[in-house]
Amino acid sequence: MSAEFPSVRPRRLRSTPAMRRLVAETRLHPAELVLPAFVREGLTEPKPITAMPGVVQHTRDTLRRAAVEAAEAGVGGIMLFGVPEVQDAIGSEGTSPEGILQLAIRDVVSEVGDALVVMSDLCLDEYTDHGHCGVLAADGSVDNDATLERYAEMAVVQADAGVHLVGPSGMMDGQVAVIRRALDDAGHQDVGVLAYTAKYASAFFGPFREAVGSSLKGDRKTYQQDPANAREALRELEQDLAEGADMVMVKPAMAYLDILRRIADVSPVPVSAYQVSGEYSMVEAAAANGWIDRERTILETLTSIRRAGAEQILTYWATEAAGLLR
Ligand code: PBG
Repeated sequence: MSAEFPSVRPRRLRSTPAMRRLVAETRLHPAELVLPAFVREGLTEPKPITAMPGVVQHTRDTLRRAAVEAAEAGVGGIMLFGVPEVQDAIGSEGTSPEGILQLAIRDVVSEVGDALVVMSDLCLDEYTDHGHCGVLAADGSVDNDATLERYAEMAVVQADAGVHLVGPSGMMDGQVAVIRRALDDAGHQDVGVLAYTAKYASAFFGPFREAVGSSLKGDRKTYQQDPANAREALRELEQDLAEGADMVMVKPAMAYLDILRRIADVSPVPVSAYQVSGEYSMVEAAAANGWIDRERTILETLTSIRRAGAEQILTYWATEAAGLLR
C-alpha cells in the first residue's frame, strides 16, 4: 500500500468548523420557521399542555406576547389554533365572528401583522363535540360535501379577521377549491391558501388532542392518508395545485421525509412541513431523561426536514430555534 493511499479523502472537508460551515449544503434560517400556537377561550392565565412540556394554551394576552417574541426572534410566521369553550355537532364557534380564533387573529394581526405572516388552522375538529374534522352524516360518517360548506364559511370569517394565509387541515376532497372560491366571492383575493396536501393518519398527532381539547373517540383514517402510501400524496398535490393552493404542506415531518422529498422535487409552489406535536414531545421526553442532547437534536431534526425539501417548517420550537440560530 502506497503512503498516499487513499487519494480521495472526504474528511478534508469536515476537518474544521470553518470548513464545515463553508461547505454546508443546508442552512436553517429563522425566517423559514413558523410557530404553531394555541389560544383558549375563557382562560385567565396560560395553561400548560401536559403532553407537550414547554407549550401552553395561551390566553389572548399571552398569545400576543408570544407573537411579539417570535417576531423579535426573526421567526417568519405564526399558525393559530383556537380552543373554544363550547363544542357542538357542526362546530359553530369556528364560524362565529366572535369565536376565539377570529378574536386571536385580530389580536395578532394588529400586534405583529407587519412582522409575521399570520396563518390560521381551518378545520372543525377543535370545534366539534365529536372531534371529527367535519360534520357527520346520519350514519355517523364524515360528510365531505356538507363539511366543505362549513369550511367556506370558516375561510370567510378568518379572512374577515385579517388572516394572511388559511391552512385547511381537514383533508376533505375539494377543500382548496371551495375555500378559494369563497374567499374570492367575499373580496378576499389577497388571502392565500396553505394547503395541507399530504396529511397522514398519524399517531404523532397524539399530544395535539390535549392541546386543543379534542373529544375524538375514533380515528381519522377515512380522510387522512394511510402511512403505507406515497403515491397518493402526488395526486393530492396535483389536485391542490389545480384548485389554487398557494403553498403546500406535508405533515407530520420526520416520519415522512420521503414524501417531502418527492413533493419538493415536483412542486412549483413553496413546500412546507409540519413538525407535529408527537415529534416535539418525543424529543422533549428523551431530553428530560438525559438520553439525548436537546438543542443538538432540535437543530438536527430541523436540518433534516429542510434537507428533505421543506422551505418552511412549522415547529413548536420556532422561537427557541430562531434564538439558537442567531
Ligand atoms: C386538525 C389538525 C391536527 C393537527 C393540526 N391540525 C390534528 C389532527 O389532524 O389529528 C396536528 C398538529 C400536531 O399534532 O402538532 N385541525
